[in-house]
Amino acid sequence: MSNSIPGSVRFDGVVKKFGAVTALKKLSLAIEPGQLVTLLGPSGCGKTTTLRLIAGLETASEGSIFIGGEDVTRLSATYRKVSMVFQSYALFPHMTVLENVAYGLTVKSVPKKEAQERAEEGLSLVGLSDFGGRIPSELSGGQQQRVAVARAIVLEPEVLLLDEPLSNLDAKLRRHVREEIRQIQQTLGLTAVYVTHDQEEAMAVSDRIIVMRNAEIAQEGSPHDLYERPNSSFIADFIGDANLIDCEVLSLNGSATRIEVVSKCIELPIQPGQTGAAKMVLRPHQIRLSRDKSQGEFEGNITYAAYLGNQIHYSLDGELGQLFAISDATLDPLSVGENVSINFDPQKLRLVAN
Ligand SMILES: Nc1ncnc2c1ncn2[C@@H]1O[C@H](COP(=O)(O)OP(=O)(O)OP(=O)(O)O)[C@@H](O)[C@H]1O
Ligand SMILES: [Mg+2]
Repeated sequence: MSNSIPGSVRFDGVVKKFGAVTALKKLSLAIEPGQLVTLLGPSGCGKTTTLRLIAGLETASEGSIFIGGEDVTRLSATYRKVSMVFQSYALFPHMTVLENVAYGLTVKSVPKKEAQERAEEGLSLVGLSDFGGRIPSELSGGQQQRVAVARAIVLEPEVLLLDEPLSNLDAKLRRHVREEIRQIQQTLGLTAVYVTHDQEEAMAVSDRIIVMRNAEIAQEGSPHDLYERPNSSFIADFIGDANLIDCEVLSLNGSATRIEVVSKCIELPIQPGQTGAAKMVLRPHQIRLSRDKSQGEFEGNITYAAYLGNQIHYSLDGELGQLFAISDATLDPLSVGENVSINFDPQKLRLVAN
């Protein structure tokens, strides 16, 4: 696997239309070599279309696409140095695992012996050295997906593309396989573009996330950036859970932003934006609930409590509207029907546009 040179990916004003449908509106993005970048967003936002444009399986209606600095906009899929891992694995059922992994190399006229050696190396990378002689139906779903990953990486692509690679796996396995994919990507220093609509999966594997919505980029950044500095209520809600509470920005001076929430004034660290209506982003774990009414400015009633071992999830109804809160389970549990005070640290609050 030593010959793969990770490539950069760049879109310059790429538009993709399917007849009357605009699947991508003037998309510009840049992916650095060796990074794993995730395209995240709701169904139909254009993730697969973006991936297929990188692979050359679709042609851009407008704009330019560069891989490794080379303009590939008009280059057919065969000549692009990318490999794709599909949701459905797409393994050949009648071939052995080793033959499956070696197949792409054979097609590229790599001598049989070398193809076999590289396929064995690929299987060893995904921890399936002992499975080369089996056929795909003799493997679990997770193992089949690892074969698909091995098959893609033995081609030493400049860019590895993965379209919802885990969606056929159950929750426990998903976590395991995503860690493996991330590890292989980092070990080999591959450039990878990963598509998912699962925000937790995106946070767990990515160097950067490009969040898409309605055929365009809503926001991009590191998982930390998106969580800490959402630029809209859509992002605040999509990346991690959030309670979005209506507020009024009264003033922004040099060091503080003053807001009014249900006729109470709160001072926050300075926030970008302007005065007027906005939404306050209150993360569930930032909320502290107490029976002691002097502990918080606001009040609410517990409408639901779910004990999850290490945490308790609460729903509340009160002055701030309906809230979702997460508490440490070691604290004295609260019961449905209890009236409690609601407290949070204004230093941690973020505001987004209404
Ligand atoms: N071949 C096609 N012909 C017509 N419309 C298409 C075609 N492929 C995609 N579209 C449309 O383009 C838009 C984006 O589709 P795309 O498959 O990229 O979405 P996605 O983000 O991958 O969604 P999902 O999460 O459901 O896989 C959708 O409105 C879809 O219906
Ligand atoms: Mg898709």
